[in-house]
Amino acid sequence: MVASIPAPGQAHWSSKAAFVLAAVGSAVGLGNLWRFPAEAGANGGGAFVLIYIICVALIGAPLLLAETLIGRHGQRSTVASAALMARQSNASSAWASLAVVGMIANYLILTFYSVVAGWVLYFIWTSGSDVLRTMAAGQPFAGAYANLSVEQVRQQMPDLFSDPVKMSIAHFVFAATTTFVVARGVKGGIEVAATWLMPAFFVLLLGITIYAGISGDFSAAVAFLFTPDFARALEPQVLNSALGQAFFSLSLGGGAMIAYGAYASRDTNLGQTSGMISAADTGVAIIAGLAIFPIVFSVGLTPDAGPTLMFQTLPAAFHSMPAGALVALAFFVLALFAALTSSVSLLEISTAYFVERLRLSRGVVASLLGASFFLIGMVSVLSFNVWADHRPLAFLPGFENANWFDAFDGVTGRILLPLSGLITAVFIGWIADRKLVDDETGLQRSPLLPLWRFLIAWLCPIAVFLILLFGLFPQLIR
Ligand code: PHE
Repeated sequence: MVASIPAPGQAHWSSKAAFVLAAVGSAVGLGNLWRFPAEAGANGGGAFVLIYIICVALIGAPLLLAETLIGRHGQRSTVASAALMARQSNASSAWASLAVVGMIANYLILTFYSVVAGWVLYFIWTSGSDVLRTMAAGQPFAGAYANLSVEQVRQQMPDLFSDPVKMSIAHFVFAATTTFVVARGVKGGIEVAATWLMPAFFVLLLGITIYAGISGDFSAAVAFLFTPDFARALEPQVLNSALGQAFFSLSLGGGAMIAYGAYASRDTNLGQTSGMISAADTGVAIIAGLAIFPIVFSVGLTPDAGPTLMFQTLPAAFHSMPAGALVALAFFVLALFAALTSSVSLLEISTAYFVERLRLSRGVVASLLGASFFLIGMVSVLSFNVWADHRPLAFLPGFENANWFDAFDGVTGRILLPLSGLITAVFIGWIADRKLVDDETGLQRSPLLPLWRFLIAWLCPIAVFLILLFGLFPQLIR
């Protein structure tokens, strides 16, 4: 086997636990709290959840192992790690395109991810002022926004959307915080953020779920999430959304997981950690569903609100719940922690690449990338108001009604991440040196190795290819 030589000055996590926490921090984010319930709600609940879990187990987790092992073997930026493995396998360095596509996709995700995280910040602000108000009034256990009517509570989100200044300020604060953490480095920034914020996240999530179980309609939520309508489960739209969600939620698609794998030590068993990370991320998505839907159902609201579920439906539900003010604040703080540990992984990918290529300091590179993704994100901010009727990709099927924000989300989630995942699966399954790959998996003597080999070489490429194809050209099956 050709051993890899770590790049000079390569950083490392201080322990295996730190790696797992940081990777779980990357995976657990707005994808779990905002996108998963929205997608599940819009795609029939149980049917979506069932297909989602199958996608994670058979496609997501195997790809997670493939990505972390590319990084750990290369000990460099994602692009250089993929190129190194290609070279050591006597393959064309064009295979590093998986990481180039992934890096571009992740950078574009960051531009709108920060805008959504900005909405979270805004709701921390409004719910925080609300808590101060209820405290001052001596009613700490009041419902959220008790001084407003339900209509006014629901109106908060459209009001925010029509105000580009407020949205830009919130987007700026989040972008600057992300940049600050990444500029501080792998150990001093990303690892510190993950080791403080993730445990706090889990405590808050558990608290809110128990609260939802006690004061919400828990059985309705369980029925909604776990009673699949099998006819719906096979609809191409549901399959496509579930696979896209698995990629997004597990931070797959040639980016974050290669980058974080590169800081993992040689004695980390990547087969094991991939299973742990996938299970933790899926567990959090389901628990988030069990926290959100009981609250939504208990006040008779519908689960299919889509992206507005977290910012419109949920605050309206907290309005009439006991201690709703406090719980609303806790919920949005939770979402902020999750978002920050994900956004730093999105920024880390291109930061590591340019530090390596341009030999500039991490602080300079992170700041330049931070400023630029903030500016590009402004396009998404404006797509909710000033440019609301722009349809930049109207010529592409499925994008007829997409504004700029939807275009960024759709192109990255539905095209670029799966495309990069497809190249990764073919590369690891067929092209890369077999021994070199197997030695990185930690599964050498386990029956899981042939299973993983089968999934990564056959199931992943075929399934991802078909879903990519039909997602882009739905008319093919109609
Ligand atoms: N997985 C993150 C989330 O669920 C988003 C993300 C996607 C992060 C891709 C990194 C790379 O919110």
